[in-house]
Amino acid sequence: MIKKLAVLISGNGSNLQAIINSTKDGILKDVAKIAVVISSNPDAYGLERAKQAGLKAVALDYKNMPKEQYDEEVYRHIKESGADLVCLAGYLRKISHKIISEYKSKILNIHPALLPKYGGKGMYGHHVHEAVVKNKEKKSGATVHFVDDDYDTGYIIMQKEVFLNEDESHEDVAKKVLVVEHEIFPQAIKKAIENEQKKTNKDK
Ligand code: GRF
Repeated sequence: MIKKLAVLISGNGSNLQAIINSTKDGILKDVAKIAVVISSNPDAYGLERAKQAGLKAVALDYKNMPKEQYDEEVYRHIKESGADLVCLAGYLRKISHKIISEYKSKILNIHPALLPKYGGKGMYGHHVHEAVVKNKEKKSGATVHFVDDDYDTGYIIMQKEVFLNEDESHEDVAKKVLVVEHEIFPQAIKKAIENEQKKTNKDK
């Protein structure tokens, strides 16, 4: 049975695009489909990507809504979509405890570093790559993990490394890591779906 994805975004949506492409003619074809795209930012370019792909999209305005109302709206749209998995694709907001407990081991996040290094509150986007460059790391990479109540601490589903040259800027590192993000997010979604199916078969 094709699994339904709720994909949450906050910005450019290049990871959303990778998932869209993969459901169309990649490894997620006939495995998963995007039931809804939910954005925390009404100006996110990812909403345009969703529109181009003919997907149901919800634009919430995190900055101009009380937190409780925002969290309830996110929960309601995930629930109404019938999503089997929730994918945080460049999503910058903390997921409410209510969603985490109801979707335990069903929320996947992409992080632009090799967790557990360079993770935690405030470690997102360029902050991650600047720290990697500052520490003269020889490698970085991307991680897909299940989301729990802390930042970037859930069970790691998949990681992939990129090797860095000495003089690379944090922008260079971000570009290299983003390529790997787009590769492993669809693979990790597929792996999570297959693992879930194995568990269900075993319980029969
Ligand atoms: C990416 O670096 C991703 O790792 C991080 O947000 C950035 C932008 O992602 N979570 P996207 O282009 O909006 O998918």
